Order: sequence, then structure tokens, then C-alpha cells
Amino acid sequence: MRLAARVTLTCALTALIGCGGSGDGPTSPTSPTTPNTPTTDNTPLRAYAAAHSRFIGAAVDRGFRYAGSDGVNFRALMAREFNMLVPENDMKHSYLQPSQGVYRFVSADSLVAFAEANGMRIRGHTLIWHSQLAGWMANGTWTQDQARALLADHVGTVVTHFKGHVAEWDVVNEAFNDDGTRRASIWQNTIGRDYIERAFIAAHADDPSVGLFYNDYNIEGINAKSDSVYAMIQDFKQRGVPITGVGFQSHFIVGQIPSTLSANIQRFAALGLEVHLTELDIRMPPPATAASLEQQAQDYRTVVNACIAVTACNTIVLWGVSDRESWVPSTFSGQGAALLFDESYAAKPAYAAVQSALK
Ligand code: XIL
Repeated sequence: MRLAARVTLTCALTALIGCGGSGDGPTSPTSPTTPNTPTTDNTPLRAYAAAHSRFIGAAVDRGFRYAGSDGVNFRALMAREFNMLVPENDMKHSYLQPSQGVYRFVSADSLVAFAEANGMRIRGHTLIWHSQLAGWMANGTWTQDQARALLADHVGTVVTHFKGHVAEWDVVNEAFNDDGTRRASIWQNTIGRDYIERAFIAAHADDPSVGLFYNDYNIEGINAKSDSVYAMIQDFKQRGVPITGVGFQSHFIVGQIPSTLSANIQRFAALGLEVHLTELDIRMPPPATAASLEQQAQDYRTVVNACIAVTACNTIVLWGVSDRESWVPSTFSGQGAALLFDESYAAKPAYAAVQSALK
């Protein structure tokens, strides 16, 4: 309620970033922001998600690079379709603490303001990760005590800054290897394996009501890696280490959705956790064809259905809005076209599939 009240107030006061398309009801089909959907249903995704008390989100990139006139269509589409926003980069260590003890919140704060002006819940991503660490941290030499203090300072400062604005945090990201062993990282190597629970305990101490998630990739199906994450969280539960849920990143390949996705969601939910699909995209080798787009739509339907079949799976986040700004082409060579909207912000068959599944 506290957040909702602030959202309304911010919306009323904000002329600069606007509140267009923020309602959860259908908007006029003549609106310039209505996606060119391959369906006659003009109801935004967020309206169907909200009707079932669920969140459908998208990641938005650094410093709100779609600010200004370049971003008009992007922002309108984002506000119309999604009731959750995740900063794709702006809340990572290198962005928030570029020099030791010097925190810069301007970019992240602008995303928070946009989200709140448009009635979106905010997932914080991410507090402790081996990647996108500031150079001073990554290249430094630290004793165990120093590293523990740096972890506590970063978690404490960031969680406190966003208290009341960020609904849940990916507290620790990608701490495991695919074979289920712990990933070597500056945190693991200096602090030891309990750095993960230290981060959760610190975050909880600074904001007892914020959601706390462990997030990783290749844990969407049942395998050695997800077994290790499961065992860690089961142990946290038994020992009273605070944790709200698990995030399955869900960077998938067209035609290759793990067959054990449903069973895996169910077993984590049975631990008393929320399960979020935190970075969903389903990539393919471009150019997209009618057949590959149809297969992609089918795969999105499979994933969304697996999630919404379980009450605890209440959040699905796309890792970007359109193929225009997706991280996929620059990361996976020869792959792309992974999201719901194409490079011109036209809805793809996958959009209609997600829309009908959420409905
Ligand atoms: C990616 C971003 O999308 C890119 O813009 C950035 O250059 C690198 O990071 N797993 C995660 C995300 O948890 O933070 C990553 O995001 C994608 C993989």
C-alpha cells in the first residue's frame, strides 16, 4: 500500500517522465503505442498478469539510454505492457560503486523514477556477482576481513538507498558452475563459501521486508547445477538464513526448452520459495522465418504456462523489450531475435503467445 500510494503521487507530480499507458486496463487501439499485435486482443500483458496477481517485467538498459526523444516509443511500449522493471545494468557493482566507497545512484534512480511513475514494481539486480565488478574491487588484493567488510558495505549501502523502492533483490548471482561446484570468484576466493549467506543476512538486516533471491542460469531444468542450488537453499531454510526465492534466468534457445522446467519450478516452490523467471529470452539464428517465429511462440507459451501453473511462480521478466536492444546478438554470435517485439517494436507471434498464456 505504501508503494502504491507513492506511485500515484509520483505519477501526479511527474510531467517530465510521464505516466502514459500506465493503467492496467486496455488502451485505445488508435494509441500510437498500441503494439502491432498479431492478435485482435489489445489488452496489455500487464493487465492480464495483474488480474492474476502476477508480474510481467522487462529489463531496461543503462542510464536509461532511451531517455529523450529517441526513447518515446520505447518508453510508451514499456509502460503499456509491463508492470515490473529491472535495471539491466544500472544496479550492478561497477555502476553503483565505481570507486571504493563512492556510490553513484543517478542512473539507477532515473529508472526507479520511471518505474514508479508508471506503476511498475522494481526488481533489483544484482548485489553480489563475479562479473561487472568495479575495477578497483576486481583488481584489488583483499584479506578475508577486508572482503567481508566490502561485501557488507556494498550490500548495506545499496539496499538502504533503495529501501521502499526495490521490492526484491537478486542478492547473489551466478555462484555455481554447471557441474554444481562453487564458481571461483573474488568473493568465493577471499571470503569462502559462506559469502552467499553473509550477503543474504546483510540484506535482510538492512531491509527486513525486501524480497531476497538467489539467481542463476542453467538451473531452469533439473541437473547437477540446479541440484546444488536446491541443496544450498534447503540448507538455508533449515538454518534460518533469510531467503525469499530463486530466480531462473531463462536464457533459452528456440526448440530447446528444458523438459524438466515444470518439475523444477515445482520442487523449488515446495521448499516454500517464490520462483521467478528473471531474464527470459529465447534466441534463434536470424533471419527469423515464419517457422522459427512460430516455434519461438510455442516455446514462450510452454515457458509461461509452466510458470503460471504454480502459484509461487508469480513473476516473469523478459531480458529486454525488443530485439533492437537485446543483449543476445553481441553475446551469442550468430543468435538474435529473442524477445517479444522486433527491431521496429512490432509484436511478434511470441507476444500473442505470452498474452494468451497470461490471460
Ligand atoms: C547482461 C546485460 O544484458 C548486458 O547489457 C551487459 O553487457 C552484460 O550483462 N546474466 C545476468 C545479467 O545476470 O546481468 C546479464 O546482463 C546477462 C546474463
